Amino acid sequence: MKTIDEYRIEIETAIRNLKLPEGKLDNLYNPIRYALSAGGKRIRPVLTLMAADAFGQKAPEAVMPAVGLETFHNFTLLHDDVMDKSEMRRGRLTVHKKFNENTAILSGDTMLTLASQYVSQVPDNLLRVVIDAFNEMAINVYEGQQLDMDFEQQSQIALTDYIEMIQKKTGALLGTCTMIGALIGGASEKDAQKMYEFGLQTGVAFQIQDDWLDTFGDYTTFGKSIGGDINNGKKTYLYVAAFEQDSQTAKALREAYEIPAGDVRVKTVTRIYEKLGINEATKKAVNHYSSLALKALNSTSLDDEKKEVFRKLAEKLIGRKK
Ligand code: IPE
Ligand code: IPE
Ligand code: MG
Ligand code: MG
Ligand code: MG
Repeated sequence: MKTIDEYRIEIETAIRNLKLPEGKLDNLYNPIRYALSAGGKRIRPVLTLMAADAFGQKAPEAVMPAVGLETFHNFTLLHDDVMDKSEMRRGRLTVHKKFNENTAILSGDTMLTLASQYVSQVPDNLLRVVIDAFNEMAINVYEGQQLDMDFEQQSQIALTDYIEMIQKKTGALLGTCTMIGALIGGASEKDAQKMYEFGLQTGVAFQIQDDWLDTFGDYTTFGKSIGGDINNGKKTYLYVAAFEQDSQTAKALREAYEIPAGDVRVKTVTRIYEKLGINEATKKAVNHYSSLALKALNSTSLDDEKKEVFRKLAEKLIGRKK
């Protein structure tokens, strides 16, 4: 197997080589080029290549489906940034800010269909199962995004409901990336299912870390504006864990969210989190879901050397600052 960086470079090269129309339709395709060239971490397509390699040295066959899954991810970001009113991503203006909202909608739609075309470039015998998995995942993401918006209007969210929401909006895609990779590699149905579980739980840990970074991260590294979740009334892991501490904290949080969106609200909520030691609780949660991921990985038939590459990636994600 190759290193994580080598897989990432393969993905970057394949994305750079995509042939998107130029000229008359630049208003549609330039925003797509802008989004896809912005240099995200590429963890989803890397997971697909790794899984395809681990199960059958099939990384080359997995490149286009992996690019498709990354294209799908970037499509969700175009629409998510409109929904979350986010202005910065990967240290640059978001598509709806750099261009406009209608562009984010339509270029996003186009990316969804491109994603589906790229993902379909699998061997014929896998087409049905891969397309079914892709579509099921996409529905999960939309459902998760709806729950994420619904929760903005509610002050009390149970931890189980929060976990269900992030399993859908984030976990499902990572799980599908590892599963499709495993299938391309020739994994048994049982192993493919376990690899889905590995990706799903890794995605849950990943989203909890994302929630933490949205409040405690550093803009220059993270590339997204800090405090956006607090200003949007998002029910993040930090919020849910704080709210369930005791009735006094719950009351303090409710009052903090009465403050109009802005620096004062962000500072007030952040201070509540700091006082509670939410930092530690969050770290524990990230470790917990990451250990569930590793448990699933360990139960696959992969030999230890191959498992180690996935463990390394999971470890990297736990402590990520971007
Ligand atoms: C952002 O995903 C959306 C979440 C699920 C938190 P990433 O953090 O993977 O974003 P990029 O692609 O690396 O920019
Ligand atoms: C990510 O949720 C989920 C999807 C994009 C589907 P966030 O809204 O937390 O992602 P970021 O923080 O904007 O990247
Ligand atoms: Mg969002
Ligand atoms: Mg967002
Ligand atoms: Mg976020």
